[in-house]
Amino acid sequence: MSKLLVANWKMNCNLNDAISLAGGVNSYIEVHKISARIVICPSFPHIATLQNKFPLTYGAQNCAFASNGAYTGEVSAEMLADIGCRYVIIGHSERRQFFNDEIHLKQKIEQANKNNLKVIFCVGESLNDYKSGKSMEVIERQLSILGDVSGLVVAYEPVWAIGTGLVPKNSEIEGVASYIKSTFEKEVEVLYGGSVNSSNIETLNKIINLDGYLVGGASLSLEHFIKIAGLYQFP
Ligand code: PGA
Repeated sequence: MSKLLVANWKMNCNLNDAISLAGGVNSYIEVHKISARIVICPSFPHIATLQNKFPLTYGAQNCAFASNGAYTGEVSAEMLADIGCRYVIIGHSERRQFFNDEIHLKQKIEQANKNNLKVIFCVGESLNDYKSGKSMEVIERQLSILGDVSGLVVAYEPVWAIGTGLVPKNSEIEGVASYIKSTFEKEVEVLYGGSVNSSNIETLNKIINLDGYLVGGASLSLEHFIKIAGLYQFP
């Protein structure tokens, strides 16, 4: 299958910036035939506008653990599916850190599955765990809440690599990717995320068992993101 390139815009961009960024990506992929499957994950309030303007594939950065009701401030998986989202990121380390997301991950995944949203489930160890050789143990625990669902995407995002410019060795990423794949009976796509940019993508592309990338900071620059996407042009 072709590579999956997921742009995680996090809590960035006003509406105009979001329109020009998504518009730029759209124009680029209309002109250059790109084999990669590109998924744009903007902030909630921008998804519907972008969806109406540009025929890209969209994802959300989170969803509620409940289906509807008195959950002030939350956005349900059903609402996301209703406005055309196809993917949802669940368990990103920033959500685990700042919003105590660990307690509701299972329910969020259930909600996503019920509404046919493809889950991009994030796992990754902290710097301390990495240094003390506990990466696999942490990842195993994080994966343990997942059932064997079809169409699952797992993003390996070491917490210490996110937004830091640090990236694990290719052999380390390859080891984690094979571990993740061996955990599930059904086919699972494994992405790498954490300081992916237009300078290191070619090195990362040498990792044979990766199915794509979750790109944060570099996806906010049209120039950098299309440089990454441009690597997957059909000849
Ligand atoms: P980064 O973020 O590319 O800025 O490191 C990746 C992510 O958090 O998904």
